[in-house]
Amino acid sequence: MCGIVGAVAERNITAILLEGLKRLEYRGYDSAGLAVLDAAGQLQRLRRSGKVAELEQALRETELGGRLGIAHTRWATHGAPCERNAHPHLSGNELAVVHNGIIENHEALRRRLQAEGYEFTSDTDTEVIVHLLRQKLDALGDLAAALQAAVKELHGAYGLAVISTRQPDRILAARSGSPLVIGLGLGENFLASDQLALRQVTDRFLYLEEGDIAEIRRDAVRIWDVTGVPVQREPVQYHEGAEAADKGEFRHFMLKEIHEQPKVVQRALENRLGADQVLPQAFGPQAAELFARVRNVQIVACGTSYHAGMVARYWLEALAGLPCQVEVASEFRYRKVVVQPDTLFVTISQSGETADTLAALRNAKAAGYLASLAICNVGTSSLVRESDLTLLTQAGPEIGVASTKAFTTQLVGLLLLTLSLGRVRGTLDGELERTLVEELRRLPTRLGEALAMDPRIEEVAEHFAEKQHTLFLGRGEQYPVAMEGALKLKEISYIHAEAYPAGELKHGPLALVDAHMPVVTVAPNNELLEKLKSNLQEVRARGGELIVFADREAGIENGEGTLLVKMPHIHDVLSPILYTVPLQLLSYHVAVLRGTDVDQPRNLAKSVTVE
Ligand code: AGP
Repeated sequence: MCGIVGAVAERNITAILLEGLKRLEYRGYDSAGLAVLDAAGQLQRLRRSGKVAELEQALRETELGGRLGIAHTRWATHGAPCERNAHPHLSGNELAVVHNGIIENHEALRRRLQAEGYEFTSDTDTEVIVHLLRQKLDALGDLAAALQAAVKELHGAYGLAVISTRQPDRILAARSGSPLVIGLGLGENFLASDQLALRQVTDRFLYLEEGDIAEIRRDAVRIWDVTGVPVQREPVQYHEGAEAADKGEFRHFMLKEIHEQPKVVQRALENRLGADQVLPQAFGPQAAELFARVRNVQIVACGTSYHAGMVARYWLEALAGLPCQVEVASEFRYRKVVVQPDTLFVTISQSGETADTLAALRNAKAAGYLASLAICNVGTSSLVRESDLTLLTQAGPEIGVASTKAFTTQLVGLLLLTLSLGRVRGTLDGELERTLVEELRRLPTRLGEALAMDPRIEEVAEHFAEKQHTLFLGRGEQYPVAMEGALKLKEISYIHAEAYPAGELKHGPLALVDAHMPVVTVAPNNELLEKLKSNLQEVRARGGELIVFADREAGIENGEGTLLVKMPHIHDVLSPILYTVPLQLLSYHVAVLRGTDVDQPRNLAKSVTVE
């Protein structure tokens, strides 16, 4: 999605703005631009459609520079992805605005402002903000007061930054529904939609809260809350290593992140496992008392995080004896729900800023849930700040748009949750609990063994390079694993992929099976294996090619029409975590063979901060 960077310093800040935009590239965008106040106090703007590299090239060909500026990567919502619609947008060559989010009443505002003589040069919703601000600035004479007045008329979501020739020493920012963070430097300050953009200049941040307005100058930051009252936001030191934004020896971030899984799963387990149980404090001090009251679980998430929730449903019902519902946030937020008594509301999100998941959480607060728990990768995110309980997944920054290590660490977090709930409720057998804790400890090693299958998976991937469609099959908790495998494949290779519970095959999708439709299956050695084998026979009998990821003792052999990848043996409960890894690698290699943009697939954004 869109990204914002801003800087005010004593040095030329164009390089800082550009570097910040590059660090936000992973989020997905289709144009980029910046505006600075030059030495003469004039507003200078440069925009390009396409990649930040094109903006950088254009910048090299100009003299453009300044000590205060804002920059943006745009992911088109209103208006085509072209230079005319790229941010910053200007009004009267004295105000520039960059904006993330959507202004829902932009049509009415545009009509009104046009009638008052403001001239529009783009098709964006954002342009209404800059003209509205100019109107308010003309009336009030102060940028902060103008912004406070303008946001009262905006409906929708925004994280925005403004600079003006009239008060050339400051950047104004406003946040409502779209995150913003202020980076604190020595004699210089910064602004961004994600702290990752500013890691090269600072590690101290102030996180704006919903409704905040901030005035950022070289040597001072002022913040007003949603009611207009001046407030202090506590600075936070960010510790994640700067190497997180570096591909290292890997060709793509996605591959690096797949290979990081043993390490990050290890980290996700650290300080959370006792000798034979999940430590009670893993979910915070008040969790044990709260968990004892839980009678139902409602999980809400999007995309890959939703698939993690789907796996958790099998665990929560089988191991903790808790009825569990799982729903995609974009549906849940607009549905009238009947809340069962003592229901724990669980959100899952890598970014913690997904608009639908956040909106669902906010709705849930008024709906009578027992408490909210966020399973999230970003400790400073809105989701974490607005939830009662949190479990951080500790995956480290995930740059590839296709989520990999975030998913496996979410699964680890959800299994820890299941074991904790099962223990406090007395529904989990003690022997099984000990076994699962032991298996969790061994998981990083097992993941390493799965990664060692990479050369075989790369061979198998060659069978896909020319295909247009694929079916993914799984049974039980492997069904969501198949869904996640299909999502990965379509996201980065653009091959159409559908996942089905294997038992559903003969109820329709079998009609699609022929030699051109490969069928990918995950087959751990569990009680459903024999049934799954029958489903595979149904495919073979119709000439369908099978790609099977099976336990080495599953009794499935490589042969005519069946490509087998033998997987290390793993306890049934943990098998969804392990079997995810080869499917990630399969998608990765297929995408590389097809020459797609693995880390930034077309049309997609890393963090979906608009509806
Ligand atoms: C996964 O590969 C996707 N990029 C996407 O489905 C993602 O999981 C979804 O947008 C939810 O994001 P979140 O985890 O940050 O909330």
